[in-house]
Amino acid sequence: MTKIVIKKKIKSFNKIISVDSDKSLSIRSLLIGSQSYGLCKIKNLSKSGDILSTISGLKKLGVKIFFKNKICYLYGSGLSGFNYKKNILINAGNSGTFARLLLGLIIKTPYKIKLVGDDSLSKRDFKRIADPLKEFGAKFELRNKNNLPLKVIGSEYLKPINYFEKRGSAQCKSSVILAALNTPGKTTIYAKKSRDHTELFLKYLKLPIKVIKKKKYDKIEISGEHQFKSFDYEIPGDVSSSAFFIVLTLLSKNSKLKIKNVNVNPTRIGFIKIINKMGANVKFINKRNIYGENLADICVRSQNNFKPINCPVELNSNAIDEFLIIFLLAAKASGISSFKKLEELNKKESPRLKLASKILKKIGVKVKSGPASIKIFGNPKFTVNKKILINNYYKDHRIFMTSIIAALCLGGKWTIEDKDSHVSSFPSFLSILKKIGYRF
Ligand code: S3P
Repeated sequence: MTKIVIKKKIKSFNKIISVDSDKSLSIRSLLIGSQSYGLCKIKNLSKSGDILSTISGLKKLGVKIFFKNKICYLYGSGLSGFNYKKNILINAGNSGTFARLLLGLIIKTPYKIKLVGDDSLSKRDFKRIADPLKEFGAKFELRNKNNLPLKVIGSEYLKPINYFEKRGSAQCKSSVILAALNTPGKTTIYAKKSRDHTELFLKYLKLPIKVIKKKKYDKIEISGEHQFKSFDYEIPGDVSSSAFFIVLTLLSKNSKLKIKNVNVNPTRIGFIKIINKMGANVKFINKRNIYGENLADICVRSQNNFKPINCPVELNSNAIDEFLIIFLLAAKASGISSFKKLEELNKKESPRLKLASKILKKIGVKVKSGPASIKIFGNPKFTVNKKILINNYYKDHRIFMTSIIAALCLGGKWTIEDKDSHVSSFPSFLSILKKIGYRF
């Protein structure tokens, strides 16, 4: 087993970095490209494990994908253009986004397709996807009526649906949007607010999608069976990956960081809103809009005082991938922070809320937690002066990276197992740490 040992805090740094490309947009560009007609050119595609799973899954469906001069080229054969064969087996690895969005695109398959994933993905809920997709007319066989491996058998006669997405899950919403692309007629979705990359992508391609934004939910209407041409796209940096370096900078002494070319879509920056409410001063410069998405460079400096927060629940979905690193900042705030209605956090690559509470207690932070809530008793002077072992965390990439950041800014002697786990979203994580001065 591979592990990392950290015995020292990171020294002051003043650097300009780029993080790996956005995972959500990388997966969407490949999946949506597979439905277009012609040759798509995708620059800066993420090279993470989840994207490699996406590429190999699409290849099984007959999509031609290749790389030339680091640019990804994909031949789309249009809507209903997959080459379905008997006995197709797709392995989604660790990627919930790929697995769930793909299901929306294969509900026309005439032969059963089997979908499998790694241990972590095999524990996650797929009923949430199978239920709405069954309404379109597809059939599903799920292990335990809920999990992978699953089998999908499609239908030639799909019908549009009305769907209420109540969890704030962009994966559920996007799976239904993609299913609607291949379905005649108008599908209507009432979705609790969540990241809106799929909607913006389809708007950029001028597809018939209409989004009416209400206060608490979005009404989305999509008319299906409109063929569209291939496209060029360029993936910006991932704000969720940036989050680790933002908190590292905030909690280190005399340090300064600029992260270039990051996607700062308003539905992705709940994390920055939350930590700025806690007193952080994270700034966006050089703001621009490309392909309908907001981009910026992120600037951050070391700071001393963080206020505790009673975290507004309406920010939960827009910060869902960043709560672990937010909890770390809360441990250094001057008082008790409270986070509620976080049931979705236990449904990620690991039961993150439970594990966060366990790890915080292990390192010496007082925590009170419930099934969907956590109170963190912060202390600006908090440091770690003992040996810490981080293991058995379902190889959750975000737990690995948060633990490394905690070790680098809190002190103590940390051993963090399953070193390769970060590769599923952020393969350059350790090399960027080296670039800003840490010697492992
Ligand atoms: C994602 C949506 C979120 C997020 C995941 C990526 C996406 O999941 O946690 O990392 O790209 O749509 P849910 O939709 O399950 O909240």
